[in-house]
Amino acid sequence: MRVPNKGLLGAALLLALASVSQVEMARAADPPRAKVRSLCQNCHGEDGVAVLPGAANLSGQQKEYLIEQLRAFRSGRRQNPQMSVVAKTLTDQDIEDLSDWYSSIRVTVEKPK
Ligand code: HEC
Repeated sequence: MRVPNKGLLGAALLLALASVSQVEMARAADPPRAKVRSLCQNCHGEDGVAVLPGAANLSGQQKEYLIEQLRAFRSGRRQNPQMSVVAKTLTDQDIEDLSDWYSSIRVTVEKPK
């Protein structure tokens, strides 16, 4: 078998690396993910499993429910010292995107024995 020349191999490797980092960059620029990281993950985790005691787990929650709660915090119908502040910064589109993000995370449950 003929060994491909090193220049070609190097170029292929560079291309592969470039496409990996492009995917990473696209993810970082993905608006819902960027919002989750900057606004929500310190308390709810990027995966929706709460990291702050007292914050709710959000992964796998119904999208309609999440939208409703975020609107309620934003309007003041539901109050919480932390969420009321965060929700005021969200647009309708943010609420849609963030609810989509957390509701799309799959969870499995196990009943107690
Ligand atoms: C500083 C911590 C903190 C941050 C940041 C935060 N939350 Fe919360 N969140 C909480 C706490 C605490 C609760 C529980 C509120 C309560 O007891 O009523 C909560 C509740 C919620 C609920 C209601 C859950 C339920 O089961 O009713 C939703 C939805 C929610 N947060 C979404 C978000 C989203 C989306 C973000 C990012 C934009 C975010 N939160 C950022 C602390 C936080």
